[in-house]
Amino acid sequence: MEKLNIKDISVSYGNIRALSGVSMSVSEGDIVALIGANGAGKSTLLNAIVGLVPLVSGEIDFEGEPICLSKHQKLTTDLIVRKGIALVPEGRHVFADMTVEENLDMGAFMIRDQSLIDRKKEEMYDFFPILGARKKQKTRSLSGGEQQMMAIARALMSSPKLLLLDEPGLGLAPLIVQDIFNKIKIINEENKVTVFLVEQNARLALRTSDYGYVLENGRIVLQDKGENLLNNEMVQRAYLGA
Ligand SMILES: Nc1ncnc2c1ncn2[C@@H]1O[C@H](COP(=O)(O)OP(=O)(O)O)[C@@H](O)[C@H]1O
Ligand SMILES: [Mg+2]
Repeated sequence: MEKLNIKDISVSYGNIRALSGVSMSVSEGDIVALIGANGAGKSTLLNAIVGLVPLVSGEIDFEGEPICLSKHQKLTTDLIVRKGIALVPEGRHVFADMTVEENLDMGAFMIRDQSLIDRKKEEMYDFFPILGARKKQKTRSLSGGEQQMMAIARALMSSPKLLLLDEPGLGLAPLIVQDIFNKIKIINEENKVTVFLVEQNARLALRTSDYGYVLENGRIVLQDKGENLLNNEMVQRAYLGA
């Protein structure tokens, strides 16, 4: 079943066309990767899915229902999150002066039941023990990798059905990035969360994914199973340094 269906969308910033006629889909239970160079439009696409940037044309459906349209009947970001989509934004956007625990509370903004919030937090501390050990510490005292884990945990507080990750490995050491991707794999397999991730680290992203898309200058130029893209000559030349 298709979880997310992006139908021929275009997005502009003033006179700059950032996405042109992009169509893609994410099947339920999959990890799907979008790879592309800096400036290709990857963040724009994720931001469009959660309603942070408007569509010029096209439509985005979640579980068969439109969530973003080019006209006015678009859901707000708040409603999109409530429907079960969570975004871990590029650069993490953690609240540096808040503690780890306060950051997780922010991710639970739509949950009213305090005992559920407490249970979700305990789940996160079990899954990311370093966060449990640091829950009363200010986020700025965490390493970059720990902050990325916290940003992911914060997104998981809302029990999303679809998790969007914008360059989870950005600026982190290779071993830490591998750790984060291992966690993403577990979130997908054990918690049955569908994952759509955007990465410049194409090799790791495609190795981790069931399916992948290549975005160049706002257009999808290639799509295939992750392993096929890894063996694709154009992908190897442009993105894998082969
Ligand atoms: N807020 C903005 N205002 C104007 N142009 C933007 C804005 N955000 C992104 N762009 C432009 O849109 C294009 C795609 O950017 P982006 O989606 O951030 O790419 P990526 O995430 O792949 O690096 C780039 O040319 C970028 O300069
Ligand atoms: Mg980006």
